[in-house]
Amino acid sequence: MSDQIGSPEPPFPIAVLVSGTGTNLQALLDIVHGREAEIVAVASNVVDAPALGRAVAHDIPTAVFSRSDYPNRQTRDEAMADWLYEHGARLIVLAGFMELLSERFLERFPRAVKNVHPSLLPDYPGMHAIEQALDHGEKRFGVTVHYVDAGVDTGEIILQESVDLPFAKDPGEVLEALRPLEHRLLPEAVRLFVSQDQLIAA
Ligand code: GRF
Repeated sequence: MSDQIGSPEPPFPIAVLVSGTGTNLQALLDIVHGREAEIVAVASNVVDAPALGRAVAHDIPTAVFSRSDYPNRQTRDEAMADWLYEHGARLIVLAGFMELLSERFLERFPRAVKNVHPSLLPDYPGMHAIEQALDHGEKRFGVTVHYVDAGVDTGEIILQESVDLPFAKDPGEVLEALRPLEHRLLPEAVRLFVSQDQLIAA
């Protein structure tokens, strides 16, 4: 883990990848930024992602790596990994980043890429997880934070929490119920990573 790429001094430098609204980025800004961790860079694949404004408001460097600006995904991912590494990031948090990352990217941050997903993995990986769960008649929903591997939401589970919604029919209603879980679990997973890293470095 961190011993392969060097253990930085606290607060631990992390980067966040976003594609959309950025409420999970906001939770990280509110709960761990400037405390256990320092968000040193925020990158997006979407040029006008509202999440980028949240980073700018905190004077955090941002960059956009659109897939269409590169010949292929691997080249884009290598450029993004270079930029994140140059900014000092040693943990990468996917907070609503809606594209897969190539193995080359993951190799640059071994066992140091985490994602938040709105289902109780291994159930309902991939896109439209809440819709998938509703379609299967689920009454219990949840959130998973997991390590990212080369598969689609298949990496080792770090934290998971569920909520019973026996009457839920609408994906928006489920998402609203899951938001507080996401916003608690993702910062907690960063704290866990940082404390484990400090144990290893000690
Ligand atoms: C979250 O629901 C997360 O689980 C999923 O994408 C969404 C991102 O929301 N991967 P936000 O951009 O953090 O508000």
